[in-house]
Amino acid sequence: MTFDLLAQDPGTKARAGLLTTAHGTIETPIFMPVGTAGSVKAVGQRELKNDVQAQIILGNTYHLYLRPGLEVLEAAGGLHKFNGWDRPILTDSGGYQVFSLSGTRKIKEEGVTFRSHIDGSKHLFSPEGVMDIQRRIGADIIMAFDECTPWPCEYDYARRSLDMTHRWLKRCIERLDTTEPLYGYEQTLFPIVQGSTFKDLRVQSAEFIAEQGRAGNAIGGLSVGEPAELMYEMTELVCDILPPDKPRYLMGVGTPANILENIALGVDMFDCVLPTRNARNGMLFTTQGIINVTNKKWADDFSPIDETLGGYASTFYTKAYLRHLMQAKEMLGAQIASMHNLTFYLWLVKEARKQIIAGTFAQWKPGMVEKLMRRL
Ligand code: GUN
Repeated sequence: MTFDLLAQDPGTKARAGLLTTAHGTIETPIFMPVGTAGSVKAVGQRELKNDVQAQIILGNTYHLYLRPGLEVLEAAGGLHKFNGWDRPILTDSGGYQVFSLSGTRKIKEEGVTFRSHIDGSKHLFSPEGVMDIQRRIGADIIMAFDECTPWPCEYDYARRSLDMTHRWLKRCIERLDTTEPLYGYEQTLFPIVQGSTFKDLRVQSAEFIAEQGRAGNAIGGLSVGEPAELMYEMTELVCDILPPDKPRYLMGVGTPANILENIALGVDMFDCVLPTRNARNGMLFTTQGIINVTNKKWADDFSPIDETLGGYASTFYTKAYLRHLMQAKEMLGAQIASMHNLTFYLWLVKEARKQIIAGTFAQWKPGMVEKLMRRL
């Protein structure tokens, strides 16, 4: 994997780059649609590529390991072959889902034992096991096995958890560096900075992660309920320590405003369920602001969902029709809304990238943040 920095905004710490993996090149900053179980909910692969113009999608170790399971994925020749997505894939390690989804779980030095949310069966995720699983899934970018601390979190808990996450990282690295890819292409490990909202822990973690010298780095444990200002403070602190010549991925973030603010602090990659999950409830992100399309005021608005944005779903369908589909709980409603929101998120990072390359990002951002977060 290679990362080429093309431009740096003179007024902020925003960067534009090119991240090249075995399955193609990604323009950064980038937003990665979440495809938890090997599918971006309600959006087909052709639409993801041609309309949304997604460049990389996420998969989840926890979900894919439980269902369809590794035998099926391996027999298919990996996730790319299984789901027909031939562009890059990043898999999260399960270090987040195990904590948020499985009811009973036990964290030990060895790893985490948990019960499946599907059938209650018992499993162990260890750093070594999770590396092996992600190798078998066939992701281009593999995430380290970590503990994402809840917020708020006691200092002593955060410190002990961080030390364990760092020991787990060493085990992840050892395993990945002593095993081979199954499908003949390179798979790259991204370590994850933790440390809750404690500055000294974040600094310590960022320094430890930087020392590992991997091809890319991630920031976890944020957007878990803390105020946005605190998240920005942590990202800035961490970005200033992580190597500038490697991509930086902020996990699970966020709103359009969160994305622009974090780009300004030096983040290159984002993922979040917000555009797809909220689409299914009728919340639309548009170039004019936020719309709750289930609201009665859109019942006879026959204007396109978002004319300025372009893209098929956003210009072909009207707000009134989409409202009707949502009211009637028609599946097409979720499809149109998800496609639109993702098109918007990909448009947003592409615009940000253009502004960074033109050297005007600092002037452009404040007005955009204000406009995009307006409720219409
Ligand atoms: N997704 C959102 N936050 C996190 C995190 O801290 N760790 C992992 N593994 N995934 C995440």
